[in-house]
Formats: sequence, structure tokens, C-alpha cells
Amino acid sequence: MKGIVLQRNSPSKIQLLELPQPVCGPGEVLIRIKAAALNHRDEWCRKGLYPNLKDGVILGSDGAGIVVEVGAGVDPSLIGEEVLINPAKNWGINEKAQSKEFEILGMPSQGTLAEFITVPADRIHPKPNQLSWEEAAALPLAGLTAYRALVVKGQVQAGDQVLVTGIGGGVAQFVAQFALALGAKVFVSSSAPEKISQAIAQGASAGFNYTDANWSTQALQQTGGIDLVIDGAAGDTLTHLMDVCNPGARLVFYGATRGNPGQLEARKLFWNQLQLIGTTMGSDANFLQMLQLVKKHQLKPILDQVFPLEQAVEAFDRMKEGRQFGKIVLVP
Ligand SMILES: NC(=O)c1ccc[n+]([C@@H]2O[C@H](COP(=O)([O-])OP(=O)(O)OC[C@H]3O[C@@H](n4cnc5c(N)ncnc54)[C@H](OP(=O)(O)O)[C@@H]3O)[C@@H](O)[C@H]2O)c1
Repeated sequence: MKGIVLQRNSPSKIQLLELPQPVCGPGEVLIRIKAAALNHRDEWCRKGLYPNLKDGVILGSDGAGIVVEVGAGVDPSLIGEEVLINPAKNWGINEKAQSKEFEILGMPSQGTLAEFITVPADRIHPKPNQLSWEEAAALPLAGLTAYRALVVKGQVQAGDQVLVTGIGGGVAQFVAQFALALGAKVFVSSSAPEKISQAIAQGASAGFNYTDANWSTQALQQTGGIDLVIDGAAGDTLTHLMDVCNPGARLVFYGATRGNPGQLEARKLFWNQLQLIGTTMGSDANFLQMLQLVKKHQLKPILDQVFPLEQAVEAFDRMKEGRQFGKIVLVP
């Protein structure tokens, strides 16, 4: 079968290789992948900026496909089922945080950027009917992260004013969609005016360009104050985000695309009763809750572009350069 593996000594750091088809172990299912999607994590792996990297591992955490074989102890009636994969493995029993054994599909275990994958049978869920293969593949990792950030950690309420930063990003897209579905008023930030316009066309009330020096002043004036910020960039923008918040607001961050903040104004944080909250992916219960929300509101992931597996380097480069609006999908 074809698969995209990490190969750090190759010019583009990833390679399309002919690989043996995986074999179902006990408790596993073999899935013929119909579509897979990229996450920034895949690009961090390519850049060598992810822990415990191993060359030769198939990348990719997100995928959807058809069950074609089951291992010992797995219900054979699953064969033929159209499914998507929850890439969060071994969350454990504590809803507050993942266990030490927690792992994400696609490094160190084999990922979804291939024609076939084996996963434990408890990682698969029926594909929501309203979704195409590409849309189903786009949902799992980013949808789960967005759901936990917004609903579980952010405790979003109808009528809340929510600022979603970096709206071009995969997770940010889901945060905005879910927040609108739950009755919040959504504002966005982006480096690209056309992405702000697209977000407004999809229901956001207004947007701000975070590369403008005075964007937070504009944002405060225009919004009157934000109740909940969902951010995946961190870096120095984290301090500016506090400027747009109402007293008592929550700032939930799930990533650090811009690295660590150079300084954090502690006084702003405590005097304004702000809550700074970290989150990562989500529990199995959160995954089910996220799927319920998507089905109830008939939501569809926003797709940026679909590439054949052979053009994985172009797809990864698009993500590296931040040109996407929504999810980048690869089909084998
Ligand atoms: N903790 C977790 O469970 C988890 C899960 C998923 C992702 N993440 C992390 O979260 C981050 C985003 O992931 P993703 O897959 O959504 O990435 P992505 O699709 O590549 O999106 C990255 C986006 O970041 C935005 N951005 C860059 N600099 C920014 C800044 N200074 N302020 C605000 N936004 C900025 C850009 O938005 P514009 O194009 O609109 O400017 C860009 O499109 C990555 O660091 C990723 O590793 C963590």
C-alpha cells in the first residue's frame, strides 16, 4: 500500500513509499482509508519539532474509511461500516486530564496518510450521514480539540461574546462553527483580510487583523468586551488578548504556534479576575459529545483543499505557510 512516512534525511522530510499492508491484531480493525486530513502536528513532526520522532512512521492523525477486516475478539458485523477514527488513544479515566499513556495516532504509532490503517476497535465511530468522506476525515482531531476548549473548558453560554483567534486554522474553524451553533456571538482574528471576510460570511460578527499594532484597541471598541477567548497561537499575542477581555473572562489556549509569551502582565490577569486555561484534545466522552453536536446541528467541516496522497509535500507546504482556510485533506 501507499503511505506518507517521516524521513528526515530526505529533501522534503516526508516520502511517499510502497509499504506492507498492516495486519489486524486482537481487538483491532483494518480500515481502508477513503480520506485523511492534516493537522499542524504533522507539520511539527516534519519540522522535527515534535517529541519522540521516529523516521519511517506513517504520519496523519485524522482519517475516515471502511472497515474491511476485524481482529480476534471484534464483532465481525463491523465489516463494511463507514467510520471515522478518534485519534486520541489511552485518555484514561480522569475527565480532567489525559493519562501518562495518552497517545495521538500518527506518531509514534502508524497514522492515517496511507491506504490502510489498523486501530483498536474502540477508536472507530459511525460516519455522520451528512458528511462526505473528506468532511468526515477533517473532523476528529480538530473537532475534538475545539469542543473541549469551547464547551468543556470555556463553558460557553448562549449570548457570550467569543473571540476565536487565527480563524484560518483548522481548530479555529470548528471553534467558530460550534460557538455559533451554541448561540454565542463570534468575533475572529486573522492575518488575512480575505479570511476575515470568509468568516463573516459564515456568521462571525466582525474580525480583526492581529498583525495591526492596534488591533486589540479596535477589537475592544468594536465588541464592547469579550467573555471567552479561544486561542492556539500563544506567544506575545496572549498579553494583547487580555486587553480585549471583559472582567471575569476566560482565555482558553490549546496551542503555541507563536511560542511562549515574552512577558505576561500578571496584574492584568489578577485585577480583572481573568482565567487562563490550558486544554489538549479531549476524552472519549468529549469525542461522543462533539459528534452529537455535529449531528444535531448538521454541521460540516470547512475544507480548504483536497490533494491526492502523491501531492502530500504541496499539502504540507500549504499548512506550513498558513495559506489554508479550514482543513487540508489528502485522499489515497
Ligand atoms: N493541544 C491540542 O490538543 C492541540 C490540538 C490541535 C492543535 N494544536 C496546536 O494548535 C495550533 C493550531 O493548530 P491547527 O491544526 O489549527 O493549525 P493550522 O490549521 O495550521 O492553523 C494555524 C493558524 O494559526 C494562526 N496564527 C498564526 N499566528 C497567530 C497569531 N499570532 N495570533 C493568532 N493566530 C495566529 C493562523 O491563522 P490565520 O491564517 O487566520 O492568520 C494559522 O492559520 C498548533 O500549534 C497546533 O500544534 C493543539
